[in-house]
Amino acid sequence: MSGWGDSGAGQLPSAGGVAARRAGRADVADLVGVLVRAFEDDPVSTYLFPRRHVRRRGLRRFFRIQLRRLFVDTGEIWTTSDRLGAALWVPPGATHPASWRDLVVLAPVLADLVAGGRPAASLRLLAEVERVRPSEPHWYLATLGTDPPAQGHGVGSALLEAVLATVDEQHLPAYLESSKEANISFYTRHGFEVTGEIRSDDGGVTLWPMWRRAGSART
Ligand SMILES: CC(C)(COP(=O)(O)OP(=O)(O)OC[C@H]1O[C@@H](n2cnc3c(N)ncnc32)[C@H](O)[C@@H]1OP(=O)(O)O)[C@@H](O)C(=O)NCCC(=O)NCCS
Repeated sequence: MSGWGDSGAGQLPSAGGVAARRAGRADVADLVGVLVRAFEDDPVSTYLFPRRHVRRRGLRRFFRIQLRRLFVDTGEIWTTSDRLGAALWVPPGATHPASWRDLVVLAPVLADLVAGGRPAASLRLLAEVERVRPSEPHWYLATLGTDPPAQGHGVGSALLEAVLATVDEQHLPAYLESSKEANISFYTRHGFEVTGEIRSDDGGVTLWPMWRRAGSART
């Protein structure tokens, strides 16, 4: 099994010619910027942080903490040579970075939510996301984002495929929550299937949990 923090892999070629590689601490600052730009207009971001300037600040803080404190030493972060995108995976058996115990680490983001977002709705949505998450061992795609100017050129697919190759070797399932209905066809092409819907209690936002069965063929 490829372990947390194992940086042994070099560049992996993909079908579209984009090479994926493991990211490390030196990549973090650039990847925070990439993810902020990728998620600035995301439906969950705009729901949790309705005001744009607070959203930018909240996202920047969230991704900085997610990368630096929750993933860089112990996670699977993948990018490309030009740092055009980032994929953050939690392998099976690892501590889940979105679990309640990480709320302490994420406290600065809660402060942003209190200042200009929807703190109560965020916590309720997080609780629902945790409730729905499968208990069976699986690889979890916590975050995937491509810098907007680079989207549609195979970066997201290359980042996904780099880890799905390991997932398939291990004959394990994988899981994610899509925050955009428009992304469902993209993930379906990589073998994921929608298993339901997670709605905020006021109906303001929907997430689509997607499961990729062990041994699913990619199309
Ligand atoms: C979803 C996301 C990660 C996809 O990344 P991407 O780099 O655009 O992904 P790809 O280029 O590999 O594939 C995207 C589409 O472009 C097409 N594509 C891939 N390579 C291509 C190329 N060389 N030329 C033209 N189109 C191409 C793919 O067929 C795919 O089409 P589909 O959406 O109909 O499946 C990206 O759109 C993103 O960051 N969005 C904002 C954040 C977000 O929504 N993240 C996911 C949260 S669940």
